[in-house]
Amino acid sequence: MKQLRSQCPVSQIADKMWYFANYEDTEKAFPDFKTFSNAGGFAVSEKGKNIDESRTTLIQMDPPRHTKMRKFFLATLNAKSYRNSSEFIIQSTRDLIKEIAPKEKVDLMSEMLTMIPGNAFCHISGIPVKDQRQFCNWVDDLLLLADKQGVNTADIFAQDDNLPEPAVLMLDYIQSLITERRNSLNPPDDIITKMIQYEDKEDGKTFSDKEIQYHVRFLLFGGYETTKSLLSNLFHELISSQELYQRVRNDRSLVSLAVEESLRTSSPFKMIMRTVTKDIEVKGVNIPKGDRIVLGIQSANRDESVYGEDSETFSLDRENPPGHLAFGKGPHRCIGADLARIEAQIVLNEFLDAFPEVSLDPDSPAEKSSIYWQNGFKTLPIIFPARNK
Ligand code: HEM
Repeated sequence: MKQLRSQCPVSQIADKMWYFANYEDTEKAFPDFKTFSNAGGFAVSEKGKNIDESRTTLIQMDPPRHTKMRKFFLATLNAKSYRNSSEFIIQSTRDLIKEIAPKEKVDLMSEMLTMIPGNAFCHISGIPVKDQRQFCNWVDDLLLLADKQGVNTADIFAQDDNLPEPAVLMLDYIQSLITERRNSLNPPDDIITKMIQYEDKEDGKTFSDKEIQYHVRFLLFGGYETTKSLLSNLFHELISSQELYQRVRNDRSLVSLAVEESLRTSSPFKMIMRTVTKDIEVKGVNIPKGDRIVLGIQSANRDESVYGEDSETFSLDRENPPGHLAFGKGPHRCIGADLARIEAQIVLNEFLDAFPEVSLDPDSPAEKSSIYWQNGFKTLPIIFPARNK
């Protein structure tokens, strides 16, 4: 990647598909929605095809529709609502820590970190605690299936026929929550109820049940896998180095820095797609209208010309590093960024309080996710050395 950034920052990687490797071009493309459209889809497999409107989620829209929809979602999903979830996240983390604390070895992913973003999302969406595990299992099953088929989960949901079982069960389940709220005189104050009550002031449009199903599904996919990856990368980095772990444990002002540095060096979304709306020229390369661009988020975040020669290294000693692009930039900037940060900071602080010493399990190396766009670990086996003596 280093060579690509310095020698060939804009390269053709397939027929009608280009890769932006450096920070400058990626950072400029994100806010320029008139040239770099989201409407052709955000995943490599979507191939810029037109997506049926009832299945279109925020990330697959351009302004002006996007601007209106985003305003609606931000009224519900914002820093204030996320802060209100902090107590719930702290409590869930403490409960999970209580369960792993007596053990000598654990897989930190399956026994703790996977549960945090799933629980937090379900809490915000009003999904009952008893169903949270099941809901997240459907997501995991679908991600693996999509990856096996070389498609994105958006492709799986882009059809009515032959939906795989976990997709049918998930959509049926979301529908049951919608029906419950439609029939209730006193529905809970959550995102599904807000979508049911929404009416566009200008054209009177409301959300159909199908649209609500697809938005909820997207929020979950957008927020669960990505935050899971962030937590896995952050913990892997700190637990890999005793010095780093103890440094952050003893100086908690470093917790938020560690979260940002993890997002930068191991960006959970490695890449995201755009479709160009006109012929353009970038770094002397001509790209025709309709071609697709892979914005290389991970590569941009490691750009030497922005973060210095040690840009690939995780370091808590960078002085005022420029903002990373892990959450994107501009009109589509992630609306869950504050939630992801709150979760990561809470979980790390609680974990550091509970465990003075911890290391990776030498007998069982952590396994990386095999999903092409995802940067994270599937498993993270650790041991508590003090107890093994
Ligand atoms: C570490 C965790 C996360 C990462 C790395 C991440 C990354 C991103 C990125 C890169 C985008 C921009 C997409 C684009 O420009 O096309 C995005 C958009 C989005 N994210 Fe996140 N995300 C995370 C967590 C979350 C969470 C927790 C939620 C839900 C509460 C969420 C919901 C969304 C939504 C709805 C959008 C679309 C916004 C729009 O198109 O206007 N994300 N995210």
